[in-house]
Amino acid sequence: MFALPRIYSGTFMPILLTHAAQLLTLRAPNAGEGPRRGAQMRELGIVEDGAVLIANGKIAAVGATDDVARQLPPERAGLQEIDCRGKVVLPGFVDSHTHPAFTAPRLVDFEKRIAGASYEEVAEAGGGIRSSLRGVREASTADLAQHVLHALRQMSVQGTTTVEAKSGYGLSLEAEIKSLEAIREASRQWRGTLVATLLGAHVVPPEYRGNPDEYVRLLCEELIPQVAERELATYVDVFCERGAFRPEHTQLIFRAAAGHKLGIRAHVCQLTAANLVPLLPFHPASLDHMDFVRDDDLPLLAASNTVATLLPAANYFLGLSTFPPARRLIDSGVAVALATDYNPGTAPTPSMPFVLSAACTQMKMLPAEAITAATYNGARALQLQHRKGSLQVGKDADLAIFDVEDYRELAYWFGVNRCSRTIAMGRSL
Ligand code: NIG
Ligand code: FE
Repeated sequence: MFALPRIYSGTFMPILLTHAAQLLTLRAPNAGEGPRRGAQMRELGIVEDGAVLIANGKIAAVGATDDVARQLPPERAGLQEIDCRGKVVLPGFVDSHTHPAFTAPRLVDFEKRIAGASYEEVAEAGGGIRSSLRGVREASTADLAQHVLHALRQMSVQGTTTVEAKSGYGLSLEAEIKSLEAIREASRQWRGTLVATLLGAHVVPPEYRGNPDEYVRLLCEELIPQVAERELATYVDVFCERGAFRPEHTQLIFRAAAGHKLGIRAHVCQLTAANLVPLLPFHPASLDHMDFVRDDDLPLLAASNTVATLLPAANYFLGLSTFPPARRLIDSGVAVALATDYNPGTAPTPSMPFVLSAACTQMKMLPAEAITAATYNGARALQLQHRKGSLQVGKDADLAIFDVEDYRELAYWFGVNRCSRTIAMGRSL
């Protein structure tokens, strides 16, 4: 039996969720600590008539309602009970790839693409990432933080409790640091968990056009050391792509990041195929997009703990007819995560449920695979699997409650928000 006085002694009132039609624990007893692959991605650890006890921001008990209730004393004063009859309860979504540090939508780009221009053509004509720089460079840290916070709130009403947030629209020493400060400021005003990433290598800024080597030197020798020193980011990301940074630049930036004990991730194979062999020895936490991943790289990825993070909202918004090859990756044993890619150029959506829908309808992922990709494997992509991504005793109490009876409905309904409550670190968001 739980010693309730001890549980109740925490800062926040304990919460007992009961009678969930389906509690998706994401426990996979045989899967270990690694990212979920292949058939493991279909194991949701479902408990019918499920309950979760939350105390001090952590999960204190999980199981069938009767079993959890039996562990509690009959006197439950001070315990907030939430009846989850007819609902699905699951770990809060981990949105492991977002770009929220921008100030304005890119509506001219949007109309140009509708008229037939491609993402790269729009960028070459003066739109694209570079056209977001001015707003960010001119914004105050407080203003930028408000934009980030607004996005975080929109994410959490749809069930997201952990967000990776990148800089990348400042592209100068000052504006990248300001973006990371804004991300940190926003995270202080939000109950979910935020992981900051330096994306100074998003594109070469106009000041360094024609001299990308010099910009890469600035990143490696000045920006990365300063960011590390001030603990402004956990990861360094690179847009490794035609029109952005070459693989040799990516390696230099990875080496600098590793030298400063920062984690590594990259945007790769979004528009063109890249050889992943030179990048994998750096053990990137994730490689993201992966639309054009080469067959030869699949066994190497499958043998690594690098997660392939797929971002189908970008394909949807760019009006593409092809989507990341989820089936080929999963069936090859590669660990797959899903994220929104929230950004003004290719994916202006905060919605993980929309991403689940796109993953199932366009990429032929099963709903169970999509849920694993959006929770456990998202946590793995941020190397937070010890705290996030499944409902297990001792983990952070991050949960989403959906007003549906069957987990498949999470990916089935779209254009409507069925999330009725989000709990982060044991408190309602
Ligand atoms: O992930 N590909 C690079 N970065 C973003 C797009 C950024 C933008 O267009 O503003 C992406 O799709
Ligand atoms: Fe991105």
